[in-house]
Amino acid sequence: MLRTHNSFELNARLAGQRVTVAGWVDRRRDHGGLIFIDVRDRAGLVQVVFNPEVAADCHKIAEDLRGEFVIQVTGTVSMRPDGTHNPKLATGEIEILADTLNVLNTSETPPFYVNEDVEVDENLRLRYLYLNMRRPRVRDIILLRHQVMRFMRSYFDGLSFVEVETPILGKSTPEGARDYLVPSRVHQGKFYALPQSPQQMKQLLMVGGIERYYQIAKCFRDEDTRADRQPEFTQLDVEMSFIEEEDIMSIAEEMFIGLVRSLCPSKQMTIPFPRIRYADAMEYYGSDKPDLRFDMRISDVSQVVAESEFGVFKNTVAAGGKVKAIALPGCGAYSRQELAHLTELAQGYGARGLLSLSIGECGSIDALTMEDVKSVAAKYLTLEQIKQIAVCTGAKPGDLVVFVADSDAVAANTLGRLRQEMGLRLKLADPEQFAFAWITDFPLLEWNKDFNRWQATHHPFTSPLEEDIPFLDSDPSKAGSRAYDIVLNGHEIGGGSIRIHQAWLQRKIFHVMGYTDTEIDERFGHLLEAFSYGAPPHGGIAVGVDRLVMLLSNAGNIRDVIPFPKNQNAVDMLFNAPAPATPEQLNEVHILLRDE
Ligand code: AMO
Repeated sequence: MLRTHNSFELNARLAGQRVTVAGWVDRRRDHGGLIFIDVRDRAGLVQVVFNPEVAADCHKIAEDLRGEFVIQVTGTVSMRPDGTHNPKLATGEIEILADTLNVLNTSETPPFYVNEDVEVDENLRLRYLYLNMRRPRVRDIILLRHQVMRFMRSYFDGLSFVEVETPILGKSTPEGARDYLVPSRVHQGKFYALPQSPQQMKQLLMVGGIERYYQIAKCFRDEDTRADRQPEFTQLDVEMSFIEEEDIMSIAEEMFIGLVRSLCPSKQMTIPFPRIRYADAMEYYGSDKPDLRFDMRISDVSQVVAESEFGVFKNTVAAGGKVKAIALPGCGAYSRQELAHLTELAQGYGARGLLSLSIGECGSIDALTMEDVKSVAAKYLTLEQIKQIAVCTGAKPGDLVVFVADSDAVAANTLGRLRQEMGLRLKLADPEQFAFAWITDFPLLEWNKDFNRWQATHHPFTSPLEEDIPFLDSDPSKAGSRAYDIVLNGHEIGGGSIRIHQAWLQRKIFHVMGYTDTEIDERFGHLLEAFSYGAPPHGGIAVGVDRLVMLLSNAGNIRDVIPFPKNQNAVDMLFNAPAPATPEQLNEVHILLRDE
């Protein structure tokens, strides 16, 4: 070892002892004669003092040290003089009086401060991500990520789950995104697909009798990046045989509770996790991943306003649409400009417009008079109707009620997104709360307007509710599924289901989705064949590890919790990938590039 101690092992008890530390120069201060260097290692910082009267040679070398030089220092641990303790530092009581200094490597001046928590352009951070990793916040997230995965492994190991690796070069597994393709050299014109998830593989493991499987698995989906989405990401993937929904949900719930208690003990959770039916989540929160750290529910006020004299409301309801509303607490005095901004937000979310009604500071809703109300719709509504709207939305004096009159889906989606955005802006969410919830009772299929066919709400291997199987012939929209999602603070962090394990039912679902028998056999013949050899009932779940770590670490972006992320344009800024292939490489995989 080039060191006797890591910084976290150094403390007052070692006073008087000679130690050797190694690390990076975090900061250098020249105090007329004495030179102070903060040496940084993975665990933290320790102050080293170079005194020309103790070791003149050493002091001379220390004069030339610069930030990020790599050094090895030997010296004596001593207590810092009174009044110079640094309570912010774990090693703040002591310092090392150096007598030997060895420069292990020099460093160019870094393109950004490693030792200061200043905002740095993301592409620069990603280009120099090894320097970024030296920053304590980034290092802490990498360590947290390790602890999360270690917790998961030991949790599932304790329940007799077996970690099995599944292939990366495979065949397309539909999860609703585009595949990444890898051309084959040996088989001209053929391609492997990278797994969007190990879904079919884990089901085959169940057919194979493994019974309890988990894996920390890499998944690849060629879709546009977002704040919580990367083309390459990590799942905790789980599958079990001879189980029902409750078994998977309770095993996953216990894991999340244990994880939070051991890694983020100050956080509050509601236990057991609330369960919300999909239809209710859409109705009350306009989202299948509601942020439950604040209430602010959406109300359907169609019935209240259907009889009003306000054309937009009346006509929307008469045409079969809905008028939905939410109350924004304390926003009743919003300026015209602020209201215009809300409208812009709503239009960005797909609504034609947003109508607002502000309620003055009138003491109580009972005491409300027409003078307290400001809205272009006010003169078309009766006081009684306005009071009813306030009761439905839970609006209080001083609040702003905003309405969307549109189709049910547009009204719910717009207000759902506005709710989420305004909840954050108004700081309604308690930062100490982890609001987990299960979303259940999803429909099995949804109609895809662009392709004019049914598609799976989750994936096509999800089992319908047994009693709903007849709907597959009569009205597929009515078939419920055995799927469940888990959400945390407004993000979907996992999802799973009980699977189909009978070949006839799986084939039937593919038929409903518009596949011909030839297409089914071509794409999924292997799975149907496996099901014909005694597949056990099975089900599972997959948890997005990156999203979970993002929420546990309070990072604003998924890229901040992936050690080697792609940027917003799916580019690896360090390796500069994707990159052109050489003509020889293309030739070998039988690819001729078109001149675009
Ligand atoms: P699903 O597609 O819901 O289910 O994925 C499970 C979880 O993985 C995370 N996730 C992502 N994280 C980052 N970037 C992405 N592009 C991305 N896509 C998904 C989410 C999501 O909840 N095979 C099924 C699981 C099953 O049925 O067992 C599946 O993959 O947190």
